[in-house]
Amino acid sequence: MVHRGIALILAMGLNKASAFASIPPQPTSSSCHRCLTSMLRPIVYSTDVYHPSSPGLMNMNNEPHHDGKGRKEYDTAKMAGETIPGEMKRLVVTSPGNGTSVADCIIKVQTVPIPSPKPGEVLIRVVAAPVNPSDYGGWYKSRGPSSSSYPMPMGIEGCGTVVSYGGFLGGITSSLRCPVGTNVGFVITDPAQGSYSEYVTVNAMTGAFPMPEDVPIEDCASFFVNPYTAVGIVDTARRAGSSKAIVHTAAASQLGQMLNRLAMAEGMEIINVVRRAEQREALEGLGAKHVIVTDDGQDDDPTAWKAELRAKVRDLGATCAFDAVSGDMTGHLLDCMPGRGIVYAYGVLAGKANGIDPLDLIYRRKELRGFLLTAWLREGGPMRMIPRMLTASSTVNSGLKVGGWCRSQFTDTTMEGAHAEIVKLLGSSITGKKLRIRFDGK
Ligand SMILES: NC(=O)c1ccc[n+]([C@@H]2O[C@H](COP(=O)([O-])OP(=O)(O)OC[C@H]3O[C@@H](n4cnc5c(N)ncnc54)[C@H](OP(=O)(O)O)[C@@H]3O)[C@@H](O)[C@H]2O)c1
Repeated sequence: MVHRGIALILAMGLNKASAFASIPPQPTSSSCHRCLTSMLRPIVYSTDVYHPSSPGLMNMNNEPHHDGKGRKEYDTAKMAGETIPGEMKRLVVTSPGNGTSVADCIIKVQTVPIPSPKPGEVLIRVVAAPVNPSDYGGWYKSRGPSSSSYPMPMGIEGCGTVVSYGGFLGGITSSLRCPVGTNVGFVITDPAQGSYSEYVTVNAMTGAFPMPEDVPIEDCASFFVNPYTAVGIVDTARRAGSSKAIVHTAAASQLGQMLNRLAMAEGMEIINVVRRAEQREALEGLGAKHVIVTDDGQDDDPTAWKAELRAKVRDLGATCAFDAVSGDMTGHLLDCMPGRGIVYAYGVLAGKANGIDPLDLIYRRKELRGFLLTAWLREGGPMRMIPRMLTASSTVNSGLKVGGWCRSQFTDTTMEGAHAEIVKLLGSSITGKKLRIRFDGK
């Protein structure tokens, strides 16, 4: 889902307003491709993306520009100071199994040729990629049992280093935004690729996002799906008139923790709904003031928590709820919201929504809507999307730094170990353990 719309959505997603900051002068001695790139580079480098110590840039600047090889000499792999092999490993789902569980999927490590960047694309050596619910939810059910969907490349987002780019004119634009050696977060735009790969190609303008220089690149693995959604939830709530407080379910998730920190800075109260007592402690440790536990193991009535939620909704004036759980939770939330209140379904951790009382919709004018990151980014067309992207990317990039609002808590694994690890986490508790696949051998 996030996959499909990304290219269009992010087409105007230029990374930072700070992209026009001044930088050290670059050589401009001739009009060859590499020199032209150098001439243009000062216009767009930001202090966040310029890597004076990068072996890629040092090699690029130190190499003779006119070395007798003509235009074809544009050997970016050489410029990156590293050899790019012909083949790579990646993870694929080869079968959805019986189509009912993550455990039942068949997942393999596949060896394939490294993709060549087309004009306008960059080749990224992947350092790490997270395993999100939107990833594993699709391994066994999203594309159905059709054999043509398999082997299915896995993973939506990740992070790594630009090692090469394609084309001549396209190479200029790529090198303006993401010069070789730049550490980037990336979003997969080509359904034939997945982020759980040693290398990926993405469009330099729409799929690659320069990351802050002072953050280890592996810590930027979850730079997109969750942080941008947190920004989108706060914005959506405000525009729907719930700027004082919102209800959030599965609230100890990585996204929920980000949302708490972001909302504190934005002056918005979060009424957190979680399913385990220990999740209350985790959230209170972050400073959350309102946490409701649905199953504290003490009440005979499994819906006793609803009285507490109703009271909080009334006292804090919340009119929107964002529900990652679905299942029975959706009906419970609609029941607890005030007349004209809105429940946004944005995750399906407990499957299809149940228990919706039509009277809530008919007479109390409550609404059930969906929230999707890509739809939020696109809302209002390009004129609204560009400033939204710029604001969101600046908010997110600053929040990735140590102590920042959108840091994730990772549990590392390898390509070979990823399937067993995610099955184990889903069978126990995944809170505070975002699975991160490392491709750098660390
Ligand atoms: N619509 C969009 O555009 C969009 C974008 C981004 C994320 N999302 C959604 O946001 C949610 C959070 O993502 P994340 O990456 O932050 O997840 P995460 O870190 O993996 O955390 C998932 C959380 O949900 C809890 N949980 C799982 N099943 C549950 C259930 N049946 N009832 C109550 N709680 C349950 C887990 O608790 P335990 O520890 O007890 O298992 C854990 O705290 C996901 O549903 C994801 O699909 C949607």
